[in-house]
Amino acid sequence: MSTTVIDGLPPGPTAPMPFQTLGIMLRQRPYLERQRRRYGRMFSINLLGLGRMVILADPDLIKHTFMAPPDVLHAGSRSPLRKVLGDNSLLGIDEDHHMEQRKLLLPPFKGQRMKAYEPLIEEIASAEIERWPLNTEFATARSMQTITLRAILRAVFGASGATLTELEELLPRWTDMGQSLSRFPQIHKDLGPLSPWGKFLRLRAKVDKILDGLIDQTKNDPDLADRPDVLALMVQARREDGTELTNPEIRDQLVTMLAAGHETTAHTLAWSIERLRRHPEILKRLQDEAAAGGKELREATILEVQRMRPVISFAGRHTMKPFEVGGYRIPRGVLIGLSAGLTHYDPELFPHPDRFDPDRFVGVRPGTYSWIPFGGGRRRCIGATFAHMELDVVLRLILERVELAPTDAPDEQWHFKGVAWSPKEGGRALVTRRRGPVARPEPEAPEEEVARAA
Ligand code: HEM
Repeated sequence: MSTTVIDGLPPGPTAPMPFQTLGIMLRQRPYLERQRRRYGRMFSINLLGLGRMVILADPDLIKHTFMAPPDVLHAGSRSPLRKVLGDNSLLGIDEDHHMEQRKLLLPPFKGQRMKAYEPLIEEIASAEIERWPLNTEFATARSMQTITLRAILRAVFGASGATLTELEELLPRWTDMGQSLSRFPQIHKDLGPLSPWGKFLRLRAKVDKILDGLIDQTKNDPDLADRPDVLALMVQARREDGTELTNPEIRDQLVTMLAAGHETTAHTLAWSIERLRRHPEILKRLQDEAAAGGKELREATILEVQRMRPVISFAGRHTMKPFEVGGYRIPRGVLIGLSAGLTHYDPELFPHPDRFDPDRFVGVRPGTYSWIPFGGGRRRCIGATFAHMELDVVLRLILERVELAPTDAPDEQWHFKGVAWSPKEGGRALVTRRRGPVARPEPEAPEEEVARAA
């Protein structure tokens, strides 16, 4: 039986583009949920700057789209991040170039390597949590960013000493500027050192100089073979033809990992605080579990925080050729948004989606195409296992080291930071008591289970 395929885009709201854009900017999820109720799990919207965009919120269609051939759908070449992160950035390339670079970058992010990074994250997070003020409410976002920035600079860049200090000073400024500039490709022109793009390029040149020094040091490190950091593995990686990665390639991938992994993880941690303070019964169970050396509920809580508060709301794909999905043949040149924001709140996929309920993931692996905070397919976040490990270690330390006071304040609103969504008040915490480090029994769950969940 032949099924009819319609050439063009699925139906969607007909309001003028500025109204649709405003709807998305002001109240993204409620706006999109209204469209889903009206048009179903696949519809089109029309946005300022992006044009006609197809939204997908159906796991089968999401699977089909994630699995599409790499020459039909691109994630990189049309991304506004390409110019910001550099021509070699994994986020800005496609097809064979993307597969080649991805294959070289993947090994250090495999599940079994995470054990090597855990003590480092623990050291970084412990020092930061020690500095949290007692008995006074504060936004955790900045502190979480300090942890996640240092984690990437040390575990991924292998930076230490003065280089670490310099990068900690320069890179947050550079990523902040990059996030804002990625939204305005019209001003990507170097009009001198005072122009926004000119300032951005000059800051990047400073970063590149430091990174070149770091790459040279790493290449000449007599202990290179024993180093666990990602840079050490990158300088030893060889392409199929035996050649090394060039310095510009390594630099672009390093800053890409920083840009992709630092705020996303920090915002997820800030959201975890926001969620847990509003659910004291879960908080208490998590504390008891941590004290007993367990982690099942904590693992589930991380999955649930990422379901309810996915910091990246869409994985984007651009049609480079006509692409058939859900009975439509989408023409070339259209952006498809695979929507975590909508899928995660679909009551048929996650009953009572507005309820923060980590138990829904206890002993249950989330669906690959319904739980998609890390995207999917050949573009799935390469740092997912690293991020999951980091979230787990930091949350455990918070549960063990401080008493987090519950609150009956309203939920924090979503705040768009240019690429990722953070809690509007920065994930406010009130810490009433500090506890000493605890001696923990060995964890029971095998490492592979953590990796699979992530
Ligand atoms: C909670 C934390 C994180 C979230 C929510 C997140 C989310 C995402 C998402 C949605 C994508 C796009 C996937 C797609 O298009 O299908 C992505 C890609 C990527 N992420 Fe993450 N990420 C996180 C942490 C990290 C970390 C820690 C790193 C590295 C240290 C990282 C490195 C990358 C890279 C390099 C890509 C590009 C992959 C490719 O195009 O092949 N991310 N991430």
